[in-house]
This record gives sequence, structure tokens and C-alpha cells, in this order.
Amino acid sequence: MKIVFLGPPGAGKGTQAQILVNKYRIAQISTGDMLRAEVKNQTDIGKLAKSIMDAGQLLPDDLMIKMIETRIHKNDCHNGFILDGFPRSLGQAQALDKMFALQHTKIDLVLLLEVDEQVLADRISGRFSCANCGASYHKTMKQPKVKGVCDVCGATEFVYRADDNKETVLARLETYKKQTAPLLPYYEQKKCLYRIDGMKNVNEVAKEIDQIIKNIV
Ligand code: AP5
Repeated sequence: MKIVFLGPPGAGKGTQAQILVNKYRIAQISTGDMLRAEVKNQTDIGKLAKSIMDAGQLLPDDLMIKMIETRIHKNDCHNGFILDGFPRSLGQAQALDKMFALQHTKIDLVLLLEVDEQVLADRISGRFSCANCGASYHKTMKQPKVKGVCDVCGATEFVYRADDNKETVLARLETYKKQTAPLLPYYEQKKCLYRIDGMKNVNEVAKEIDQIIKNIV
């Protein structure tokens, strides 16, 4: 099963991808997480990525395409995978189609999470994650069960993303509208795009996605 998640920043792509990973035992490929790891490790890619991510813009297509090409050939992808954050431009989408065509395979479904802009801002501004395992939380909507302790690994340190400030969030939204939104007609034409009401709560959204997967795959 090969799934692509589309949606503006804060729509819930990572949250829903994580639910599917646990349910279907497939890999989550988050290009945002991969880039944040490069930044943390201060690699050449990380050094380039830092300023671009802080400005809310996209890394060059050729770099992202190479990164994905390498990643989808790893062992944990044999059962399938979820692309969370890729493709993000027409160039990336076309390159992905070419990659899959060479393997005589294709995307099974593209899931678009639709959320109002004001709600996106609220979700992003309250987000934090475990510094150890990356589990995601929210100031008002999803606190750890025991205050200050990660539900998943028990760590007690949490981090906020550098690009979750107001200015960068606005820039990320603009980038989404200009460069990623054109993917909607692209996938609509291929008849694999499914629109999901991302305004509902996490469990309701997950249920809707589950229903779509059961009908398609
Ligand atoms: P990336 O990390 O992919 O960021 P993003 O697309 O902006 O998405 P987010 O991770 O912010 O949001 P999400 O939709 O996953 O929401 P989440 O589930 O966390 O990319 C970061 C940067 O990397 C980019 O700006 C770019 O510079 C670069 N980059 C990445 N990929 C690239 C590519 N392919 N090409 C070029 N550059 C690339 O949810 C958000 C919050 O809301 C959480 O707190 C969560 O708990 C809460 N929440 C989720 N769902 C719900 C719900 N239904 N109800 C209530 N709360 C909810």
C-alpha cells in the first residue's frame, strides 16, 4: 500500500500517518522529520535546509527527489509506505510517478486533509513533541497523560519546532498555496485524490481514512 498525505501545515498529516503506521505496519516517510534530523546532525544538507525551513520555503526538488528515491528502497518499505510531506511540488509529483513507473507500481491513494486556516494556526502554535522519541502533543488538545512525561517513552524533555512561529507559519501557508496546491488538480485528474474533513477530531478523521482505505485497497 502506497499512500500520499497532502494538506497545509498543521492539517494533521503526521498525526494520521502515525495511526496508519501502527495499524498497517507500513513505513512513515516524513520529509520534514528527515530534514530536521539532517539539521540536528549538522550535515551539509542540514546546513542548507535550516535557513530554507526557517523561511517557510521548499528545499530544491532534485535534492528531495534523491532523498525519497533512496528512502523508498529501504527494507521497512517492502510492505508499503506513507509519504508525509512529499511530493510538495509538481516537479516532485512527476518524478515520483516516474520512479513508480520504473517499478511497475503506482500510488494507491492520495489523502488530502482539509482544515480552515484559523484552526491551522491554533494547532501549530500549541504543538510540541518529545525530545527523545518525537511523539507529538498539543498544549490544549493533546497533553501527555501524566503532565511533563511522554506517554510513549517516559522522557521528560519536550521541544518546539523552530518553524512553528507565527511569521514562518504564514510563509509555509503561502508556499503551500503556491507550490503544493497545484497537486490537487494533478491527482484529481489521475482519480486517486480523496478529500477528508480534517476539522473533525483525530479519531473521527482516522475513521474516515480507514473507510476510504478499506474501499480502495
Ligand atoms: P513538514 O515537517 O512536512 O511540515 P508541514 O507540512 O508544514 O506539516 P506539519 O508537520 O507542520 O503538520 P502536519 O500536517 O503533519 O500536522 P500534525 O499532525 O503535526 O515540513 C517542514 C519543512 O520542511 C517545510 O516547510 C519545508 O521547508 C521542508 N520540506 C519538507 N518536505 C519537503 C519537500 N518534499 N520538498 C521541499 N521541502 C520540504 O498536527 C499539528 C498539531 O495539531 C499537532 O499538535 C496535533 O496533535 C494536532 N492535531 C492533529 N490533528 C488534529 C485534529 N484532527 N484535531 C485537533 N488537533 C489535531
